[in-house]
Amino acid sequence: MQRASSASLAAVPAPDPAAAGSGEGAAPAAPSPLEVRLLALVAAARFHGIELDREDLRVPEDEAPAPAVLVGWMQAAGLWARAVRMRWRSLLAIKAGGPVVLLLNDGSAALMVRADPARNVVWLRDPQAVNDEQVVAVDELRLSRVWGGEAVLVRRERGVTFEDEPFTFAWLGRMVWLEKVVLRDVVLGSIVLSILAIAPPMLVMVVLDKVITYQSMSTLTLIALFLVAAAFYEAYLGYIRRRLIQIVATRLDAKLGLHIFRRLLGLPIDYFERNQTGAILFKLGQISKVRDFMTGRLLTTMLDFVTLAVMVPVLFWINVPLTWMVIGAAGCVALIIVAFMPAVRAAFGRWLDAEVARNNIMVETVHGIRTVKSLALEPQQREIWDQRVAEASSRKQALGDISNWPQTLVVPFETFMTRGVLMVGAYMALQGDLTTSVGALFAFMMLSGRVSQPLVSMARLVEDLEETRMAVGLAASVLNNRPETSNPGAGLRPRFEGAISFKGVDFTYPGSRNPALVDISFEVPAGTMLGLVGRSGSGKSTITRLLQGINREYEGSIKIDTTDLREINLAHLRRSFGVVLQDNFLFRGTIRENLLAGRPGLTITDAVRAARLAGAEEFIERLPQGYETQIEEGSPNLSGGQKQRLAIARALIHDPRLLILDEATSALDPESEALVNANIHRIAHGRSMLIVSHRLSSLVDCHQILVLDQGRMVDIGPHKELLERCSVYRQLWLQQHRHMESSGMGKPASPKPVLAQGD
Ligand SMILES: Nc1ncnc2c1ncn2[C@@H]1O[C@H](COP(=O)(O)OP(=O)(O)OP(=O)(O)O)[C@@H](O)[C@H]1O
Ligand SMILES: [Mg+2]
Repeated sequence: MQRASSASLAAVPAPDPAAAGSGEGAAPAAPSPLEVRLLALVAAARFHGIELDREDLRVPEDEAPAPAVLVGWMQAAGLWARAVRMRWRSLLAIKAGGPVVLLLNDGSAALMVRADPARNVVWLRDPQAVNDEQVVAVDELRLSRVWGGEAVLVRRERGVTFEDEPFTFAWLGRMVWLEKVVLRDVVLGSIVLSILAIAPPMLVMVVLDKVITYQSMSTLTLIALFLVAAAFYEAYLGYIRRRLIQIVATRLDAKLGLHIFRRLLGLPIDYFERNQTGAILFKLGQISKVRDFMTGRLLTTMLDFVTLAVMVPVLFWINVPLTWMVIGAAGCVALIIVAFMPAVRAAFGRWLDAEVARNNIMVETVHGIRTVKSLALEPQQREIWDQRVAEASSRKQALGDISNWPQTLVVPFETFMTRGVLMVGAYMALQGDLTTSVGALFAFMMLSGRVSQPLVSMARLVEDLEETRMAVGLAASVLNNRPETSNPGAGLRPRFEGAISFKGVDFTYPGSRNPALVDISFEVPAGTMLGLVGRSGSGKSTITRLLQGINREYEGSIKIDTTDLREINLAHLRRSFGVVLQDNFLFRGTIRENLLAGRPGLTITDAVRAARLAGAEEFIERLPQGYETQIEEGSPNLSGGQKQRLAIARALIHDPRLLILDEATSALDPESEALVNANIHRIAHGRSMLIVSHRLSSLVDCHQILVLDQGRMVDIGPHKELLERCSVYRQLWLQQHRHMESSGMGKPASPKPVLAQGD
């Protein structure tokens, strides 16, 4: 391609053959085209007040992301974005409202900041330009040399999006409505099918009335031929209709699944802590009922409605009084169902509650099976299970009993719709009603057979609606909880140095009466270690939770560097931390996959480096398959200490500036603990660390140690100072080192006399 040499195109990043070939080989002064393209998108997003995060962009390495991927990236950050093909004319017609990203042929991009139709030029800005004022005018010919018409339009998302609206019946309805094009075809097919269904009875009427009476063989042949043709056509249409329904059902199913998982992931951690897993899973499982209803019952009922709309007029044409009788009977069926609904609903609700409770026991037992087994709790669990099963069964029985009534009561009416009408019709014919010929009666019977079933099922729809409404309610009780952030793209994404400051922080867990933290103030300079000690329940973990934005309703101020915690983008905040807890979850997969945890741009080299730092290298290399060793669910093939070291390595993989170790080494045997502790200085190099530990000896090297008691700060300072002035700390220290004292090692030399003085 030609290098755009004209001066007016200077701002359009010209294809640089050297840079275009290799992604990273370019000199630092000339970023790769892809880099420029991403810069353009970031700039366009920034115009709308949203910072895009490169970590959110999921592209395979050294592969140019498709426009759809780029658009998805922007949408995930809360922007409205579309990839489009444009011509010069439509480009000129764009009114100012933020830059348009033009995807250039060489893989880079330019920002169109305004169009000037009067002069027939557009104004472009180089995404790399520091100064916003650096724009150049480009005309159609020049642009066409570097641009093939691909562009990305970006806007601020207005208000709440469809996706973010609460999960309700109306929402579901709108989701079905989105499929209206296919649904229209389904309805059209159904209308034709219903009309076809009318033909045979009508022909039967003709056969009975004319062919037999007048002995007309030719009419019979004609009718037979027509019937055969109609039968084939009916089969074909039925096939098409089922296929279309299948398509809609599958699509709705996929959409619903995606949506639900997205919302579930958006819920805050403390929701999962406050609610039982079993209950959450059961409630979400109700979605399948909703889906079955939407793709099964709702659609068929809609089609039934079409059938009725076509057939009922025909019935009226054949015989008015008989039709009224059929409709009246269907009305009675509906009335009976509606009358029993409140009672059925109540019984249904009671049964659901029992089901949730039963399910909870199941999930809990599977989750805690180790504890159940090791404490030999099987009999107890079985007993609770028996109770719950008995409860659920009796309520299910009660539900069955109550819904048996309407089902029984409607039977006479349903029978009347078929056989009763025949009797009445025959009576009318006997009375000399001329409209009721034998043929007409037969036709009526055949048609009303087709009508009565939809009529009844429409009446039953009320019942199904009720059941689905409850299922929607259950699922909504999980999904409609307030998500962690209303806008995942909002917030600052500063580069952290790692300084942490708490100022007058108070915090009480929701629903708890006692405050977990009271007036906590401390500062951790960047690159230093803070130890947290205190009795169990003194608030150590709570401090680390606040820092990670898990609980956000604190009072006072928490800052990282100079940025208030509340202003930081949540995903960015959490990504900046490495966190190791006492018990860590390893995903199913290889050790390498677990260490890299799907982070883009990391390789096995990073995994090895992190493993070495965490003291995990030696045991990984002793495994027969090394980094490719498969970790099973619950990782039974690893020891507790090995798991822990993997977790530490995983936390270090992306080289975080901030590291939290909450009892990270307390599950380790002395040897592995010593290994990690020996590495802690290397681990700490260049980062700020918060270390929670019950073993004070592992905190001795911390720059500061914060002593907590019942959520209050007792003291803060380095080990030596605390030993001298803080009685709580000294007590904890002495408890752990008494044996040294008595064995004459007497390492803490001063404490004893100070303690005797009692400060
Ligand atoms: N998710 C929660 N919901 C409600 N209260 C909580 C929650 N987590 C902790 N608490 C309460 O907050 C207080 C502080 O708990 P925290 O977990 O911070 O203690 P800790 O110092 O880490 O204790 P440990 O050394 O046992 O881990 C405790 O009284 C605890 O009961
Ligand atoms: Mg804790």
